Amino acid sequence: MSEKEFDKFATNYDAVLAGAMPPGMAENVYFAEYKIKLINQQLKERAPERILDFGCGPGRSIEFLASYFPRAEIWGFDVSEDSVKQARANNPNAKFVLDMDEIQNQEFDLIFAANVFHHIPKSEQSDALKACARVLKESGVMYIFEHNPYNPVTKRIFERCPFDVNAVMLPRSETVSIARGAGLELDKSGYTLFFPAQLSFLRFVEPWLSAIPMGAQYYVRLRRSR
Ligand SMILES: C[S@@+](CC[C@H](N)C(=O)[O-])C[C@H]1O[C@@H](n2cnc3c(N)ncnc32)[C@H](O)[C@@H]1O
Repeated sequence: MSEKEFDKFATNYDAVLAGAMPPGMAENVYFAEYKIKLINQQLKERAPERILDFGCGPGRSIEFLASYFPRAEIWGFDVSEDSVKQARANNPNAKFVLDMDEIQNQEFDLIFAANVFHHIPKSEQSDALKACARVLKESGVMYIFEHNPYNPVTKRIFERCPFDVNAVMLPRSETVSIARGAGLELDKSGYTLFFPAQLSFLRFVEPWLSAIPMGAQYYVRLRRSR
């Protein structure tokens, strides 16, 4: 998918995503919030002051970043101009750029990239991560959330989702290896989203399952290599 192709999903992003999910599994708000909740729990007293949402799309994570980290200055970056326009309208207090060069002299405590890297052509993934590494504070962390290619339900949704026509899922090991080449080392990782809405009463055990490579998604937390 070309970078501009997300322009056409800028105003109907949630509806398209929900349409790709099996009946009863479309929990768009939950999927957007759980990532920020997990980061908030892990960072505890180290609340980030400056956050970059890399590949922010129409900005659905930004409202959660703002509510979990109310004192943070939040920036969004995306290559899709229409998505950024939508993100700006939804989040008037955040700042946005369409070109990473515009913020190359800035530093962020937290860089967050949710379901972005599988949309970046393989030949460009390393450069995209290097651009992130350049603006990550020495003490900062970058979280990448990606689909788990080994989960059969994720695979089925991925195959049905119009967003993902030309996307290629990224196994956790590949993400870690690209990150290493970009000067970022693995700090922590885990699998997430083990239970669908119908079994949501079991979700409280998910933190104990995070080493099992069967969750619908995974995250890697990266630091600058020392
Ligand atoms: C599936 S959407 C995810 C949007 C948002 N992160 C979320 O979780 O709702 C993927 C996003 O990645 C963006 N994207 C594609 N190539 C990119 C690149 N090279 N750099 C940054 N973002 C990119 C797309 O424009 C799109 O907004």
